[in-house]
Amino acid sequence: MIAKIKQLLAEVEAMKANNAEELEALRIKYLSKKGAINDLMADFRNVAAEQKREVGMMLNELKTKAQERINALKDEFDSKDNGSCDLDLTRTAYPVKLGTRHPLSIVKNEIIDIFGRLGFSIAEGPEIEDDWHVFSALNFAEDHPARDMQDTFFIEAHPDIVLRTHTSSVQSRVMEVSQPPIRIICPGRVYRNEAISYRAHAFFHQVEALYVDKNVSFTDLKQVLLLFAKEMFGADTKIRLRPSYFPFTEPSAEMDISCNICGGKGCPFCKGTGWVEILGCGMVDPNVLESNGIDSKTYTGYALGMGVERITNLKYRVNDLRLFSENDIRFLKEFEAAY
Ligand code: DAH
Repeated sequence: MIAKIKQLLAEVEAMKANNAEELEALRIKYLSKKGAINDLMADFRNVAAEQKREVGMMLNELKTKAQERINALKDEFDSKDNGSCDLDLTRTAYPVKLGTRHPLSIVKNEIIDIFGRLGFSIAEGPEIEDDWHVFSALNFAEDHPARDMQDTFFIEAHPDIVLRTHTSSVQSRVMEVSQPPIRIICPGRVYRNEAISYRAHAFFHQVEALYVDKNVSFTDLKQVLLLFAKEMFGADTKIRLRPSYFPFTEPSAEMDISCNICGGKGCPFCKGTGWVEILGCGMVDPNVLESNGIDSKTYTGYALGMGVERITNLKYRVNDLRLFSENDIRFLKEFEAAY
C-alpha cells in the first residue's frame, strides 16, 4: 500500500496537461469517485492497525497534493485562456513621475512676480495680430524694415494679418481701451521669420512692460530697471543704458547688466566687455499715445521689452535656443529644483 501511495505521489507531482480536456482526464484519473486515490481510500480498511496512522497521513497528503497540483494547472490555463493575468497593462507605471515647470515658464513667472510687486498687472493679446497693433499704432513707418517679409510671418491671403513679432502689440491693445494710469506687463510668444539655429528661432518669448500716467519720467524708468536687474540677477548687479532707436519710444535705450558670469571682469560670454545686453526700453513716443487715444500733453509713459530666452540663458546658461522647444526630458529635468 505504501509503495502504491509513493508511486501515485510521484505521478501526481509530475502531472502535466496541455489543455483543459487533458486536465479533466487527470482529475478523473486521480480524484474522481472512481479515481486511483479513492480506490486506495477504499483499501484503507485492510491496512494493519499499527500502520493505519502512517498510511492515513500519507493518503491525506496524496489527496491534498493531487488537488493542489490540479488547481495549479487549472490556474495556468485560466490565465492563458482569457488573456487575463496579474499584469495589468493599463495600470499607470509606478512611481508616477511628476512633471516639471518649463525653464521659460520659471523665468517668465519670476519676471511677472518682480513687476507684480511693483504694481504691474498682466495683460495679454492675440498672437495672430493685425498690422495696426503690431506696427502702425506703434509708430512704425510704412517702409520700416521690420514689416519686411523676411522678418514677419504674413498670412498670404490677408497681408494685413501677421504673427506678432513682439509683445509691444499688447501696449496698443490696452491703451486703445483704457485711460491712464496704465501699469501692465505683457508676457507672450512672438514669431519671426528666422532660420532656426542655436541663437535664432522662429518663435520665442517676450515680456513687455508699460507704465503711462501723469509725470512719468526717464528717472522712474531707470529706477524700475535697476530694481528689476537686482531682483533678477542679484543685489550686486549694475546696469548701464546705451542710446538706441525703437519707433515706439523716444528717447530709446538698450540696457546692459554687469555680466553675471564673470561679475563684470570680462569673459568669453560677455566678449570681454563685462556687460551683457538684456532689454530695450524708452519713453513712449507721443505719437504712440495719440494713435491709441491717450492725450500726450497730459500723460507720459515708459515701456520696456525683454526676451525670456535671453534672460533664461543668463540665469541658467542655456545657450542653445533649440533646447527650449525640443522637450527633451533630460533637459527639462534639470529644472526640477528651480521652482
Ligand atoms: N519690441 C522690441 C523688440 O521686440 C523690444 C522693446 C524695445 C520693447 C523697447 C519696448 C521698448 O517696450 O520700449 O525688439
